[in-house]
Amino acid sequence: MAAQNLLLFFRALACNPRSVGAIAPSGANLASLITSEITAASGPVLELGPGTGVFTEALLERGVRESALTLIEYGSDFMRLLQARFPRARVLWMDAAWMASHDLFEHPLGAVVSGLPLLNFAPKKVAAISPPPSASCATVARSISSPMACSARCRRRNSTNSD
Ligand SMILES: C[S@@+](CC[C@H](N)C(=O)[O-])C[C@H]1O[C@@H](n2cnc3c(N)ncnc32)[C@H](O)[C@@H]1O
Repeated sequence: MAAQNLLLFFRALACNPRSVGAIAPSGANLASLITSEITAASGPVLELGPGTGVFTEALLERGVRESALTLIEYGSDFMRLLQARFPRARVLWMDAAWMASHDLFEHPLGAVVSGLPLLNFAPKKVAAISPPPSASCATVARSISSPMACSARCRRRNSTNSD
């Protein structure tokens, strides 16, 4: 990844840690995994929270046409970077939670890919993020603490309480 894009990512992270929600952009392996069900024949693809465009690049490598991509990004610096990197994609500068109140898609979607930091959002906001139905949908969830470790802690607390 270009040093300039990394710098932009870290600047955004420093300004809005909860909204960026990751300590670094995704790597090529995760990008390949998250896009693995998508092919050139998938049809229009929606990407939520593309950031610097790591998943976007992987989608293009899988043969998705740039003009078949809609990228919804809330960060203004990321949005400008995406417009410059993917000039034929439709880049929408908006909160993904506003999707339901706008008629954004003329044609049915083939796939949705999300890098949104959903674990940082309030449940009400997560519920409001409702992309149109699509044949495939993949999302990544990042957390500083493991949800499994948390349930282990809860179990320990419960068993202590019942002692
Ligand atoms: C963890 S980064 C993921 C970036 C990229 N997909 C990757 O994996 O490297 C999360 C991205 O979601 C964007 N984002 C956060 N909240 C958003 C929202 N409500 N609507 C749209 N994008 C949002 C952030 O600006 C950031 O670009």
